Amino acid sequence: MSYSYQPRLGHGLPHDPLNAIIGPRPIGWISSQSAQGERNLAPYSFFNCFNYQPPIIGFSSQGWKDSVANIAETGEFVWNLATRELAVAMNESSATVPHGVDEFALTGLTALPGTQVNVSMVAESPVNFECKLTQLIQLQTANGEKLDQWLVLGEAVVIHIADDLLENGIYQTAKAHPILRAGGPSAYYAISDDLRFDMTRPDARK
Ligand SMILES: Cc1cc2nc3c(=O)[nH]c(=O)nc-3n(C[C@H](O)[C@H](O)[C@H](O)COP(=O)(O)O)c2cc1C
Repeated sequence: MSYSYQPRLGHGLPHDPLNAIIGPRPIGWISSQSAQGERNLAPYSFFNCFNYQPPIIGFSSQGWKDSVANIAETGEFVWNLATRELAVAMNESSATVPHGVDEFALTGLTALPGTQVNVSMVAESPVNFECKLTQLIQLQTANGEKLDQWLVLGEAVVIHIADDLLENGIYQTAKAHPILRAGGPSAYYAISDDLRFDMTRPDARK
């Protein structure tokens, strides 16, 4: 037996299971800047990496929020790695505040100028990707009905990695203490090396 439902008719459960099923998700902690130079910072867990070379990352905004508006204006953004140490600040930066309010100041984070984009990076974050907008896609239903949901894709033109996360040149994923978003109003997960397992692809065994 399984529980089946058609999402367009409602899930019929106390909480929508979608985010709990597709999870835990990496967090797109996105900094951007308006054309007037106002700084912005917000987390997006509809986020992932979609291409190796060039690196293309993206996030989806439920509505035309400040991050999307800024990126549409300037064509630039930065992704900052959200870590366990920065979890409270990351969460605070999601507060709904008027356009133009600087979440760096709000959260007490340090704004570091980008080198290739005119966007501040979170200095406390051990990894930052400086990105240029490649596509801004309005999502739509299977019937072609346009949604007020926006997928932002960008090419990482510069990647900064804290030295201590590279051991003999190998990036140490767990050492960065990344945090991952799961379902419901509050669930997150962390990762650790004791949960790691390795498996090579069939094609790589030859
Ligand atoms: C962990 C976390 C993940 C979030 N993921 C998303 C998301 O994927 N899409 C979205 O539209 N909002 C998401 N939000 C809510 C936004 O962060 C929030 O609406 C924020 O105020 C948007 O800021 P902005 O208007 O400055 O872009 C998330 C919030 C948190 C705390």
